[in-house]
Amino acid sequence: MAVKGVEIAPANGKLGILLVGLGAVSTTFVAGVEAVRKGTAKPFGSLTQMGTIRLGKRTDNRSPLIKDFVPLANLDDVVFGAWDIFSDSAYEAALHAGVLEKALVEDLREQLDSLKPMSAVFSHNYVKRLNGTNIKEGKNKMELAEQLMADMANFKEEKGCDRLVIVWAASTEIFLEPSEIHQTVEAFEKAMYDNDERIAPSMIYAYAAIKAGVPFANGAPNLTVDIPALLQLAEQNGVPICGKDFKTGQTLMKTIIAPGLKARMLGLDGWYSTNILGNRDGEVLDDPENFKTKEESKLSVLETILQPDVHPDLYGNFSHVVRINYYPPRGDNKEGWDAIDIFGWLGYKMQIKVDFLCRDSILAAPLVLDLALFMDLAQRAGMKGIQEWLSFYFKAPQTADGLYPEHDIFIQLKKLKNTLRYLMDEELITHLGLEYYEE
Ligand SMILES: NC(=O)c1ccc[n+]([C@@H]2O[C@H](COP(=O)([O-])OP(=O)(O)OC[C@H]3O[C@@H](n4cnc5c(N)ncnc54)[C@H](O)[C@@H]3O)[C@@H](O)[C@H]2O)c1
Repeated sequence: MAVKGVEIAPANGKLGILLVGLGAVSTTFVAGVEAVRKGTAKPFGSLTQMGTIRLGKRTDNRSPLIKDFVPLANLDDVVFGAWDIFSDSAYEAALHAGVLEKALVEDLREQLDSLKPMSAVFSHNYVKRLNGTNIKEGKNKMELAEQLMADMANFKEEKGCDRLVIVWAASTEIFLEPSEIHQTVEAFEKAMYDNDERIAPSMIYAYAAIKAGVPFANGAPNLTVDIPALLQLAEQNGVPICGKDFKTGQTLMKTIIAPGLKARMLGLDGWYSTNILGNRDGEVLDDPENFKTKEESKLSVLETILQPDVHPDLYGNFSHVVRINYYPPRGDNKEGWDAIDIFGWLGYKMQIKVDFLCRDSILAAPLVLDLALFMDLAQRAGMKGIQEWLSFYFKAPQTADGLYPEHDIFIQLKKLKNTLRYLMDEELITHLGLEYYEE
């Protein structure tokens, strides 16, 4: 089926990637891009840089790199900026995060030292374990949003950027539920002036971004941009948004394994997941109020993939437990353990154990790159509001109201690639393949 192509503005000039939070993920991301630019590393883990996309029939042998197929910003045209509550440069923050070897950080010292964070919008009430001093002051939350918009404009001017995107890679905030002030733009703006405590700092960044016409991706599980007021504003202003919570580590594994179990109609009695994590993220998540936000995001995955309502015999009664234990000796090198109790033919029970010795920020960094580049593409292609085709990157993908999220990583990848084909006026791939067998 031929589809109608979309006008996409070219990726001319510089793209500014503004990171909220200059911690483990952000510094690992920036260091990686700098190393790739220097020619000392390859962008492993990045679909935009290393992935290919099949076009046309299998017999056509057309599988270009994604970056050669769609007009993405070139890595040489990317400039970084950040906000953080600590004034450490990316060099100091990378050493503090301890993800990368000291020698590698030293090798990139010049580039990393030049990235100094702007002062943050922050309140201790939302992240109780952190105390920083590089914080903006304002008489109300609207004034803080205006200061962020001024930061964006100054950065754009100073660095000579043509376009900006923002990725939230700051700490997970305490759990907040949507309430009436999150329902409309008017109610939200009034609450900003009233300093309503239901407006978290992440929402102030998201509001400022959308107001300034800058795409916003949310890498943490906070509500942030997943509220009707900000969705309306994004639609009105023609700004792409997406979230929530980078899909790395244990949830990545879950969304790889669970679709396989379901594909074979193997039943599930229980899935116990625990994590040992010793970085600053782990410290923040050690607070029950912040962990609650993460737990909500991690729990929904299995329910939606396995569809207990459609398959009650197989998945109607499984127990799903997720724990995060702050354990300093491990630093960023997380250990994610899964004990999976399954059953098969005649109800015979089996077990799967997964022990993923992963590196959280190493898994998250390429997602930041892909999201920044795809969100910029989306904006140049005139796509606005929720970018569901980027669900591939998230634990709790944002969707239109009333629509359940797609968690199966293989469906997510198909959706992403078909979106790219659609944008470039290429035939969508259904994998039907009958034509290969026709005389
Ligand atoms: N690494 C992963 O695999 C992964 C996966 C999913 C989600 N995440 C999320 O990504 C986020 C970043 O993770 P990390 O390991 O880099 O954490 P980190 O603690 O190393 O870095 C977070 C940084 O954000 C800063 N910060 C906190 N509140 C801020 C604010 N309001 N404005 C500006 N800066 C602020 C902190 O000072 C810190 O430097 C966390 O929310 C984490 O839950 C990470």
